[in-house]
This record gives sequence, C-alpha cells and structure tokens, in this order.
Amino acid sequence: MTDTAGARLDLLREGGVVPRHIAIIMDGNGRWASERGLPRSAGHQAGMGAVRETVEGCLAAGVGVLTIFAFSQENWQRPAAEIDALMALLEEYVAREASELRTQGVRVRMLGDLERLQPAARAAVDSIENRTAGGGALDLNICLSYGSRAEMVRAARLLARRVRDGEMDIDAIDEAAFAGQLLTAGWPDPDLLIRTSGEMRISNFLLWQLAYAELYVTAVLWPDFTREDLFTAVLDYQRRDRRFGRINA
Ligand code: IPE
Ligand code: IPE
Ligand code: MG
Repeated sequence: MTDTAGARLDLLREGGVVPRHIAIIMDGNGRWASERGLPRSAGHQAGMGAVRETVEGCLAAGVGVLTIFAFSQENWQRPAAEIDALMALLEEYVAREASELRTQGVRVRMLGDLERLQPAARAAVDSIENRTAGGGALDLNICLSYGSRAEMVRAARLLARRVRDGEMDIDAIDEAAFAGQLLTAGWPDPDLLIRTSGEMRISNFLLWQLAYAELYVTAVLWPDFTREDLFTAVLDYQRRDRRFGRINA
C-alpha cells in the first residue's frame, strides 16, 4: 500500500461510517487501451489488476459487500472477438485469483443470465463460487451477462408464478417480496455507487437497488483505479448528508 493510501485508510477509519455495500461500474478499459495504441483486450486485461486492488481495499476498509459490473447484457452486442477475449479473461481470473480470494475470506457470486455463457466460462463461474463458498470477510458479487431490467422482469415472473400456483396472495407482493426475487436478494442495497471513466449514467445496473445510493463518478479509467481511489471515494461518501427524503432535525 502506498503512503497516501495508508493515510486515507486511517482517515476513513476515523471519519465515520464505512459503506456496508459498494457497487462499481468498471468502465474505461477500451479508452485506456486506445490511449496506449493497444487493442481493447489489453485494457480488459489491465482491468483485472484494478479488481484485485479494489477487493483488497474493501477488505482493508471493512466493507462487507462489493458488487462489480463486469459484463452487461448489452455487451453481448460487441464484436465476437472482444466477447471472446472477455470470456477468456474470466477464465484466467478464476484460475489466477480463486485460491487467493479463498484465503482472504472473499465469497464470490456471479449474478446475471449465466445461461448465455459458453461451457468453459460457465465452468469457471461454478468453480470460483464453489471454491470460495466459505468466505466470511467480503461478499464479492460479479455481475456478468447482467441487465437490471431483465432482472426485474424475472422477479415479476417469479412472483406471478407463485400467485398463480396459490403459494402467495397477490396483496403480499410488496417491496420486500419483490427485492427477495432479485439476484441480490439477501444483501443490503448499495450505499455507494462508483463509476469510473467519467460517464454519468447507470447503464442498466441495479436500477432497483440503487434507489438511495450515493453516486460517485471519477474520471480515472478503470485499469488505473487503485485502492487509494477507492478510499478517496469512501471519504467523499462520508461527507454526504443522506436524508432519504427526510429533513435533518
Ligand atoms: C468496461 O470498459 C468493461 C466492459 C464494459 C466489459 P469498456 O470496454 O466499456 O471501455 P470503454 O468504455 O470503451 O473505454
Ligand atoms: C457498462 O459499461 C457495463 C460494464 C461496465 C460492464 P458500458 O461501457 O457497456 O456502458 P455504456 O455503453 O457506456 O453505457
Ligand atoms: Mg464503456
């Protein structure tokens, strides 16, 4: 850890409440690569280092849940070569990181429409979930082939089926019941959303769950994101006034 990162970590520990759940839209890999005259896949490769930094930063800061957006449903529309490179990286990530994550007590879950993955990628998903299942220090949710609208449609369908089958009364459908059918069921909503590369949009990520998240956008491109940047975002979060629609006494 750099001196500045260490100093920021000390500050955020003194500063108050650390977010229980951080969500991140990891964006800017392609631009990072083009700035260097490299293929886009080199940016994705470099982005893996930023994932490691962020996981270790969350462990150091005591964040309980980290949900990262790795591949969206819409990203299936990218050229096949880029998709293949991303899926190969997923397999590489699992091969390289699973045992270290397990040692660190990180429990990994992959959230999304995993049916669309090729068998090798699917096997990588199963492998990392199984190998890290006992982790208790940090829940790492990786959103893969994920779209929030699709997730909500799925939840509606699951509830409708339960009503149709007589397992549930229609009036029992409330916010908690709906949230209970989302892929994030059981985790608290994110307190803080970070998006890298300066884009000011949500891109179909956790639309329900982000209802009251604090938003933090940084110009840093994802491959350059370090734990120091993470701590800076948390320090910024600690200065926010979260009112949830109320007024302060
Ligand atoms: C984020 O980086 C990673 C994925 C969406 C898979 P991008 O690939 O979107 O990079 P930019 O936005 O083109 O720079
Ligand atoms: C969002 O990034 C998806 C991920 C980070 C995986 P995109 O780069 O796909 O989003 P848009 O197209 O700029 O909205
Ligand atoms: Mg992008």
